[in-house]
Amino acid sequence: MRSFLITITYSPPQLTSPTERIPRLRDLGLFLRCALTSPGRTGAVLPSSRALARSMTSVLSEFSDPNVLELGPGTGPMTHYIQRRLAGAGRHVAVELNPAFAQRLAERYPRVDVVCDTAAALPRILEARGMYHVDAVITSLPFSLIPDDVQTDIMDGITSLINPECGVFTTINYVGAFSTPRARRFRALLRERFDQLVVSRPVLGNMPPAYILTARRAHLAR
Ligand SMILES: C[S@@+](CC[C@H](N)C(=O)[O-])C[C@H]1O[C@@H](n2cnc3c(N)ncnc32)[C@H](O)[C@@H]1O
Repeated sequence: MRSFLITITYSPPQLTSPTERIPRLRDLGLFLRCALTSPGRTGAVLPSSRALARSMTSVLSEFSDPNVLELGPGTGPMTHYIQRRLAGAGRHVAVELNPAFAQRLAERYPRVDVVCDTAAALPRILEARGMYHVDAVITSLPFSLIPDDVQTDIMDGITSLINPECGVFTTINYVGAFSTPRARRFRALLRERFDQLVVSRPVLGNMPPAYILTARRAHLAR
């Protein structure tokens, strides 16, 4: 009988500051537990890879002092690179539904305003913080699993808050879920609300491989 050995390698973000050098295996354990107990909400089996987080957050190089909104930070691979790119500038609000993820992030990143709530309540969340516009929205929310009405609520909030002059929205779509009806509906929603939608090549250094979707208004199209 033939046997197959499948090896999955996971490379967590590299951490620089001693206070951030935490046991990453704990994150992986927490993420896997949440993926098993609440797969639809967690939306992935593993946290995003360094390669994906680095590419997603590269849009921040366009700004000097931005308001950044992160949706669904999970155990924080994107959070880490957002903080690194901000290097003390701007504001960073991260909205996470899962209290276990939110608590861990809040402890680890004191400069990030971590909110444990649903991304469907953005106007209320940001109004409470006196933040009336956002320059960059960085999210890996599982849009291809999120029900249509919640997708619409989240996008209504984002469109009402994103800076009309320079705002940029970026998210991921796993390659295997690209053609599902919900993923198609979500991209249609993005095309309705933005003038340009760019889909990257698949980021193969992520498990599973993912496309990065970047949406902008027309006069900002690059
Ligand atoms: C696919 S995981 C991505 C986690 C992390 N950003 C990463 O890249 O590894 C999606 C995250 O979105 C969170 N989430 C799901 N629905 C949400 C909602 N309605 N509002 C806020 N966060 C949500 C999940 O708890 C999970 O942490």
